[in-house]
Amino acid sequence: MLFKSKLPDVGTTIFTVMSRRALEEGALNIGQGFPDYPIDPRLAGFVQEAIDAGHNQYAPMEGVIELRSQIAAKLKACYGAEFDPIQEITITCGGTEALYDAIQAVIGAGDEAIIFDPAYDSYEPAVRLAGGRCIRVPLEPPAFAYDWDRVREALSPRTRLIIINNPHNPSCTVASSADLDALADLVRDRPITILADEVYEHVIFDGRLHASVLAHVELRRRSFVVFSFGKTLHATGWRTGYCVAPAEMTLELRKVHQFNTFSIVAPLQYAIARYVASCPESWQGLSAFFEAKRNLLIEWLRGSGFRPIKAAGTYFQLVDYGELSRKPDVEFADQLIREAKIATIPLSPFYHQVPRMTLLRICVAKRDETIQAAAQRLAAFKAQR
Ligand SMILES: Cc1ncc(COP(=O)(O)O)c(C=O)c1O
Repeated sequence: MLFKSKLPDVGTTIFTVMSRRALEEGALNIGQGFPDYPIDPRLAGFVQEAIDAGHNQYAPMEGVIELRSQIAAKLKACYGAEFDPIQEITITCGGTEALYDAIQAVIGAGDEAIIFDPAYDSYEPAVRLAGGRCIRVPLEPPAFAYDWDRVREALSPRTRLIIINNPHNPSCTVASSADLDALADLVRDRPITILADEVYEHVIFDGRLHASVLAHVELRRRSFVVFSFGKTLHATGWRTGYCVAPAEMTLELRKVHQFNTFSIVAPLQYAIARYVASCPESWQGLSAFFEAKRNLLIEWLRGSGFRPIKAAGTYFQLVDYGELSRKPDVEFADQLIREAKIATIPLSPFYHQVPRMTLLRICVAKRDETIQAAAQRLAAFKAQR
């Protein structure tokens, strides 16, 4: 090869590895986060209508104004704040592109970004491609609580970005408004931008309310906040997300976006705009929809030897297999694929320094029959010991 790898240690993501192993072994895949049920037919119909109406050429670089206006109205309804659809909202290729663009906009050579382990896997490569480096602060299992003193210790004159993910994948915990206050205290007099990954904003359980950075008057002035219609509309393959940020920050994000993807699939944007406006119950009912699935999984795992750590948010659920095995999680997850024909996601690949733990992540964005089949296979694994 004629050039040096910029990410020599980066391999295939754990999601791809486990999904590939599931295929090889004919295992039921309840690891990777994607629904196995259809999208709302009304939404599918709106896409066809957008195509028939001729929305088939380049969308505007920032996103179609119909969608950005609907997002502004939705943000007002959810977080009680006004955002300018023209200057502060940008449609991106999923949440992933918004994260990447924000990181490229902020991070330069030698800059540092603080991220929390277990960390969603796209953050660090994006920081490194921008020439920066990640300082990783662990969230210790089983509570995965923020230790703001440790974050303070991790700050340096080079810190330019703190990335916070709430609700948090893969720990399935949520940050409180006290956490956001602690974060605001830390960055108050420092040149630090916040990147808030809130793709699971509508999946939060047991009556909790989502503490969005957008509802935090002080933090939102220095934040890029990232959302995903893939999660909200059960359509991860549509690759449609958005970023909300103050106008001067959005301007910088768009400089990256316009030479990255330029603009996002036009008919999907028109369809989503109509759907968000005419079917608000779709996102308003998401927490209840996934809470019911979480509860079913917990119920069906009773006596299986896999102890659920009740998820506070996201469409995942952690289970502790410590009663069944002391093997490292990657090894144990592979054993489950081979012997129980079930693919989960181990947690250690999301850590830089792996704490002692025996946890696997299961996705509950599945048909009830799939969740039941998964629970049965897990229970059978114990029975065969
Ligand atoms: C925490 C987190 N952030 C970002 C993303 C990416 O979202 P999208 O699929 O819209 O790119 C995901 C997807 O799984 C996620 O779990």
